[in-house]
Amino acid sequence: MGDNNDSSFGPWPQPAPGFFEDAAPVVLNVPKELQRDWNRHVGRRYAKQVLLDTLPSWIWALRNPGLADVSDDRFVEIVCDGIFSKFLTPDLEPPDLERFAPYLGGLEAGERWFKSDFSPMRHVASDADSATTPSVVLYRRASSGQYHLVAIALKDDVFDPTMDGAWTLAKYFALQGAGVLTTLLMHPKLHFPSGAVDAITRTRLADGSVLKQLLLPHFRLAMAVNYAVLYGAGTVLQPGGIYAPYPGSLKEHAEVVATLWRGLDYPDGTPNRAFPRYRFPMEAPVIHSDYGEFLGRYHAALMRFGKVVAHEVQQERAPDVAAWAAHCAEWVPGFPDRELIFEDDNLARVFASLVLDAAVSHSADHYLYAQVDIREVPFRLHTAVPKPDQRQMPDRRHLVETRDLLHYRMCMKMFFQPYVIDRLCDVDYGFRASRLREANERFRADLRETEAQIIQDGIRVYTPLEEMAASVQF
Ligand SMILES: [Fe+2]
Repeated sequence: MGDNNDSSFGPWPQPAPGFFEDAAPVVLNVPKELQRDWNRHVGRRYAKQVLLDTLPSWIWALRNPGLADVSDDRFVEIVCDGIFSKFLTPDLEPPDLERFAPYLGGLEAGERWFKSDFSPMRHVASDADSATTPSVVLYRRASSGQYHLVAIALKDDVFDPTMDGAWTLAKYFALQGAGVLTTLLMHPKLHFPSGAVDAITRTRLADGSVLKQLLLPHFRLAMAVNYAVLYGAGTVLQPGGIYAPYPGSLKEHAEVVATLWRGLDYPDGTPNRAFPRYRFPMEAPVIHSDYGEFLGRYHAALMRFGKVVAHEVQQERAPDVAAWAAHCAEWVPGFPDRELIFEDDNLARVFASLVLDAAVSHSADHYLYAQVDIREVPFRLHTAVPKPDQRQMPDRRHLVETRDLLHYRMCMKMFFQPYVIDRLCDVDYGFRASRLREANERFRADLRETEAQIIQDGIRVYTPLEEMAASVQF
């Protein structure tokens, strides 16, 4: 950890203590001024919402009991596009091939098998309050990119559309996995791994250095937001709060969150390629839906601007930048070290990845999850995990209780819905050199052109540019 282990110098990463052991490194010494910024812009809002939103949410829950019907087509619409589509993978593994063997015949030209793997749900046990189960969903993907739902495995039992009531329940359990793992694993990947880089940037780079100016707008509020989620007294991960919607315990939720960092092996110890150990991404993310294309367009815009600024920083080969990279590489696997950071366009790639995650993907994820119908994608389920011979249709009104809907709706309003404070499209790095100021201006124009091009090419606008925050602000 080198020469800077004294937190009085500034914030610094450390191995996560408590339930989050072997999760991404965390920053526990959040500087006072950053905490004040969070108190003013986030903490106050939470307090207000608990006061004002609880009663209307309760009335809403009373008036909208139970779950909504989810047809097979609707299931595909939900899970194979947008935020949930991050789980889609063409990599069927031996356990999948074995389980789904009776279904894996007769692919037509251009078709391919895909799955959504929600097996990390095995970290959350069923209890008296709700049932949970790991699930894997099998699809056939046509050459057009359209997905067709084929079967769902709940642990070792496989369900298909001929199975009436059991099939209906299998879909809800898969949707439960999609909801819980999106919000506790896939999305938090955009929050926690960059926390170390945030702290090292604040502590190791001199104020006014170009690299620090380039990164700081994209770290505003993140450190205090992340601390509040993991260790705050009122964390959403602790069951019991009016806004705590998840099945399972804090310890189990921590296991799920830690999976984004440590990955997940099959119970027999072979690695599951759907959940590798975390590595800092040096490329745009691969997502098997238009959401990937949408994010890729913004990644390209970030690279165009990042290259201009990175070129200036790399030319100087300043020792403080080398030390910054060395520290980041020590804490974040895959981060370019003190040599690599000056090679090729590595620094631009670091910038593009950090900002794509913290600004574009993070905002888009929240924007998309805020539109999820909580009566289609449940968290707690009050029914036993089905067996394939169950034919009776469940009564959808009793699969979730009023308080489940109340807690989920409060969580939606307080934590999932975006509240943008600084917009990405307004970002002003405060550079002094005129060529960098001009590059900053061109970047803002390029972001607008990127959105215009997305619209022109008929790609879904997963979130409008104007709704994108510059950093993790919620
Ligand atoms: Fe978030």
